[in-house]
Amino acid sequence: MKRTYFPGITDIVVVTDPAEIRTISNDSRFDRDFIGHGPVRNVQRLRKMLRIFSLNGRRFPPLLPRTDPSRAAAQDELWSRLNVKADEVKHGPPQLEPLAEWVRGIGTAEKLGLLVQQSIGRLFLETFTATEESSAAASMVLEAASSSNVLRMLGWRNSGRLERAKTLLASMVNGDLTAVVAMITARQLIVDGLHKMRQLAADPALRSSMTTDAAVDECLFAPATVLRQAKTSGEVGGCPFRRGSLFILELGSASKGAANRDLVFLSQSWSRCPAEKWVPALFGGVWRRVSTTLHESQKTSRPSLIDS
Ligand code: HEM
Repeated sequence: MKRTYFPGITDIVVVTDPAEIRTISNDSRFDRDFIGHGPVRNVQRLRKMLRIFSLNGRRFPPLLPRTDPSRAAAQDELWSRLNVKADEVKHGPPQLEPLAEWVRGIGTAEKLGLLVQQSIGRLFLETFTATEESSAAASMVLEAASSSNVLRMLGWRNSGRLERAKTLLASMVNGDLTAVVAMITARQLIVDGLHKMRQLAADPALRSSMTTDAAVDECLFAPATVLRQAKTSGEVGGCPFRRGSLFILELGSASKGAANRDLVFLSQSWSRCPAEKWVPALFGGVWRRVSTTLHESQKTSRPSLIDS
């Protein structure tokens, strides 16, 4: 891990090693309380993140501290509910056809954003229908989160566009903030995964040789980073830290190796993703539909050697 420390200015530790990420994500000295004082750069970074990922003073669930009174119960409830839905989608039911059609090569990137937002929204509200506005709202919030352009950020904020975008999304899911954050951040990770799947499906050799598990694995992308803050001063893995030090856990790169796929959903951490089974099941279901129909169309378009 690498610490950048200038007293009063910045105190940020970047963690890239998979084992160190596991250690820090399970060490109770590091959490998501996110105290808003300390070195200037730390405070700026936290303020921006909390402003974007909260609505009307309420933080989105993936930013709540471990000990938040309702967090763990909500996480467990969602995990159980999504696991039931995982069993429903893993064999590729007809409801996955629009996504499968997109993976087969039909439709634009915008269309996929809409379809994925709708699939996520329907986990929370059966009648949820994504619109161009809701899709654009999610893209805008995500862009604001990743943009380092201070002027653009101020523009979004002062014009009220950022708040309006989040309010619109919340109004479509009865104010459920888990649904809102999933429609913004998880949507992008799933979209990236299905872009990858479209590439795989376009290659006839891969399409016929790849197992569903292997295809799913190729398409799972972790969030690039997640954040923790030190609650006390101390030392971890030889790196000293102070109360308020920020730890950036680089899941995107650390989760690449076969031995580190648990980091995609931080499955061994108290903060594990409640969708850790549903997302792979969704991808598996889509791949099954795509590989089956593509195989079948190959069978019908090419006479077999036995027939001839
Ligand atoms: C490819 C898709 C996804 C990936 C890679 C992913 C990954 C993650 C990771 C790494 C965390 C841990 C964050 C942290 O420790 O600070 C997390 C937390 C969370 N995820 Fe996901 N996620 C995905 C999709 C979803 C979806 C679809 C939902 C909701 C339907 C969801 C809901 C949540 C929630 C509520 C948390 C916070 C859990 C807690 O700390 O209480 N995620 N996710």
